[in-house]
Amino acid sequence: MILVRENELVEWGIEVGEFIKPPAFLLLRGPLGSGKSVLARSIAQGVGVKGPVTSPTFNLLVTYPSLRGYQIVHVDLYRLSDPNDLWELGWEDLGARDQIVMIEWPERAGIFLPRDRWEIRLGFVDDDELVRTILLEKHGDPASIPGLPSSAT
Ligand SMILES: Nc1ncnc2c1ncn2[C@@H]1O[C@H](COP(=O)(O)OP(=O)(O)O)[C@@H](O)[C@H]1O
Ligand SMILES: [Mg+2]
Repeated sequence: MILVRENELVEWGIEVGEFIKPPAFLLLRGPLGSGKSVLARSIAQGVGVKGPVTSPTFNLLVTYPSLRGYQIVHVDLYRLSDPNDLWELGWEDLGARDQIVMIEWPERAGIFLPRDRWEIRLGFVDDDELVRTILLEKHGDPASIPGLPSSAT
């Protein structure tokens, strides 16, 4: 686990987006305001998303085309009340060959998580609002991504 300022998180996210090859699942964990959406936007920027990246709210799932021909799928399950509602989102089709899927609040999906995935955990630091903890965890055999910056904050 390391500490990052927002600019460091954004720079790493862009690197991840530039480097990663689909299919890939990135699960973004952490409390409200910890930076999951900041990171998702940075990764999308690195992949080369066309147009602005907002946040999925009503739809829970938004798909963006990218300049490199990949699809970026940004999912926010905060408002998902029952894991069984996932099927209405087309959950079983996620992780297609050309997709980079980023999921905020993956805990809402219960047991229905992909086997091969990166888990990125963000957290607050008690005495500094501008710093976050970040932890990178590999599950199964996901496509490779750059490691966390070694010299952050
Ligand atoms: N070191 C940091 N990393 C990420 N965000 C930070 C950091 N410091 C301050 N922030 C702010 O925290 C907020 C994170 O919001 P957001 O990414 O929407 O959180 P989440 O999606 O986890 O609920 C943003 O307003 C951002 O500017
Ligand atoms: Mg968010």
